[in-house]
This record gives sequence, structure tokens and C-alpha cells, in this order.
Amino acid sequence: MKTPTAAAVRRIPLHVPSVGRAEADAAADAVLSGRLVGRGPIGAALEDRIAADLKVKHALLTTSGSHALELAAASLKIGRGDEVIMPSFTFSSVANAVMRQGAKPVFAEVKLDDLNLDPEDVARRITKKTKAIVAVHYAGVASDMEALLRLCRKHGLALIEDAAHSVGAKWRGRPLGTIGDAGCYSFHSTKNITCGEGGAFFTNSNSVAERAEWFREKGTNRSAFLRGEVRKYDWVSEGSSFVLSDVLAAVLAVQWGKIAAINAERGRLYALYQDALRDLDARGLLRLPRFAKDCEPSWHLFHILLPTRRERDRVMDAMKADGVGATFHYQPLHASPFGKKVLGWKEPMPLSERAGATLLRLPLYDGLTTEDARYVCGSLRRALTGAR
Ligand SMILES: Cc1ncc(COP(=O)(O)O)c(C=O)c1O
Repeated sequence: MKTPTAAAVRRIPLHVPSVGRAEADAAADAVLSGRLVGRGPIGAALEDRIAADLKVKHALLTTSGSHALELAAASLKIGRGDEVIMPSFTFSSVANAVMRQGAKPVFAEVKLDDLNLDPEDVARRITKKTKAIVAVHYAGVASDMEALLRLCRKHGLALIEDAAHSVGAKWRGRPLGTIGDAGCYSFHSTKNITCGEGGAFFTNSNSVAERAEWFREKGTNRSAFLRGEVRKYDWVSEGSSFVLSDVLAAVLAVQWGKIAAINAERGRLYALYQDALRDLDARGLLRLPRFAKDCEPSWHLFHILLPTRRERDRVMDAMKADGVGATFHYQPLHASPFGKKVLGWKEPMPLSERAGATLLRLPLYDGLTTEDARYVCGSLRRALTGAR
């Protein structure tokens, strides 16, 4: 069996942001305009454009996806004594947003097919204290929205959509993040479009939007003042400072116009991976993701599940030696040091644990060439089967 020589080894990172001269020029122009503040003319115009494009009543740019989640928890009045159900297989920001309001995260299992919340497990965990459910659309694939919306309606719960991975993704034609009571995007550097660090908060409720605006502006009604709706602004609620600078909004405005092209290219590469790896899935050597037909994903990441943690780590190391930046993802929150310490969580969650232990993400970004993607598949196949 031939192994690649040092000269033949490529360097294929997990992700490369799709930014260039246009973004750099936009940032420079924003700096030189002298209006660098948050929600300046560029940010305000972009918020209107995003709201119109997504057909959502309110879009608020934020300093991160984490902060957008904090706005959601605060503006939905989640507080002390409340419980919020979320997947254990997710990012710490989801639990932090709830805990910072004094409420308790309750973890539920995911489905192995798409690593999104299992509505049956969610239903089992609803109590009198439950106030909301957070649907994290993993990899930009919609959660089972029909079942989750039904549960929320039946029990009078709020639905928060964490669409951090889902820029441009839809469910039955509706943009993810705009279907529940509140939703969020992330524009972190690893996401499909980026301004380095940034996020957006969405809601169709005027009162939720008003509270989110207050919270984002240090607990003041400055946003209403800037729109000329009040003559001065006051301290009106608790809050913090989550407003995106116009310099970053300028970068994001360029990126916003590229979503369709970026996601289409990512989708092409995703399909290439799926086709190239289908036989390995059929042989039980790996498990490909599966999702319902009513999803229109953002193709945010391509992941596979391997049979064991040992096998995943072995394959990951072998691919690293080939120069391929394949890597793991979330470690389940219920089994994390903080989850155990502050929540005293003891119950095993086998599917979330399996995802944490066996998941491998393959490089996916719109600058990845077909040749690179084939090289990634070759490296994976070689690691799994020894074949060339
Ligand atoms: C599901 C999910 N939610 C929220 C976040 C936080 O986003 P940000 O890094 O913009 O704060 C992340 C980060 O990757 C995430 O994966």
C-alpha cells in the first residue's frame, strides 16, 4: 500500500472564510466615514434588508450568536425557577444564555440521523416549570419543527431557534430562525458568512423586539431615540452592550449578498462527499447524516459518525497526517465538567455521548476545490479500509 510522501501531503483546513477585497474595502470605507458606532447607518440599513429578505418583523444585529441567544432568554422573560429544554449535544452558549437569566437548562436527547432534538424525549422532560424549548438546527438542518411547534402550543412554551449554523437554511420554505418566538444567527469566522464575530436576533413579536432592543443597548431605549420615536433616552430595563459596530456591519453587508452563491457551492461539495462515501455507509464503516425532505439546509458542516471513539480518533489522526483538518465537534453538556458541577447531572444520554465521541467533521467551505474534496475522501477511505 502506497502512503503519501511528505511532498504529496496537502494542507486542507477544516474551514476558510469566504472573504476578500470587497469586505476589506467596505470595512476601510466604514472606518474612514468616521461613523464607527453600533447601529450606525450601515447596520441600520442592513437590519432592514435582513428583515425584508427573511420576511421577519424584527432583525437585530448583535456582537455574537451567543449574545443573540442571551437577548432571546432575556426578552422572553426567562428567569429564576424556569426550566428550558435544549439538546445536550450543543454549544455552551445555549446553556449559558439560560443560566445567566437564573433559569435551569434541562438536556434532552438528539436523533442520530440529524443530531437534532428528539421531540419524544423533549416531551418526557416537560414539567410545570418548563418555559421554553431551544431547537438547535445542527449543521444547518431544520429540527423536527412540526413536532416541536406542536409541543410548544400544547404546553404554552416559547420556542427559541438557535440557527447559528443555518444562515440561508429553510424549513418548508421558511427561513430557520424566524419560525419560533425568537431566533438567532451567528456570523463567527467559522460560519457560512462572517464578519469575524457577530450575530443576529430575530422575532415577529413587537414586545419581544422592544425588550431585546433595550437589553442590547445597555438597558436603554436608545434605539427608539435614534429612530426619532422618543425625544431622549432613559434607563428602562436590565441590559448589556450587544450592538454590532458599523465597521463589522459593513463587512457583513458584503457577505450578506453572497449567501446564495456560498451555500450553493457548499451544497455541491456536500453532495460530492455524500456520493463518494455512500458505499462506506452501506458497509457500516461510517454513518452519513440523513434528514427530512422538507429541509433546505445551509450545508454548514459535513459530519460522519464512526463506530467507536477509538476509531474516530484513529481516523482523525490518520487524516491529519495526510494534511486534512478533519475534527470532532461538541462534547455533550450534561457530561461536561460544568454541567456535572452546577446541575449535578448524572443521567446517561447515550446518543449525545455517541455523537460527542464518534463524530468527525470534514473540511467544507466554498473555496474547497473538487480535487481537494476528492483528496479528503481518499484520505478517509484509506484510513478506514486501507484501500487507495
Ligand atoms: C449551535 C451554536 N449556537 C451558538 C453559537 C455561538 O455563536 P457565536 O460564536 O457567534 O457566539 C455556536 C458557536 O459556534 C453554536 O455552534
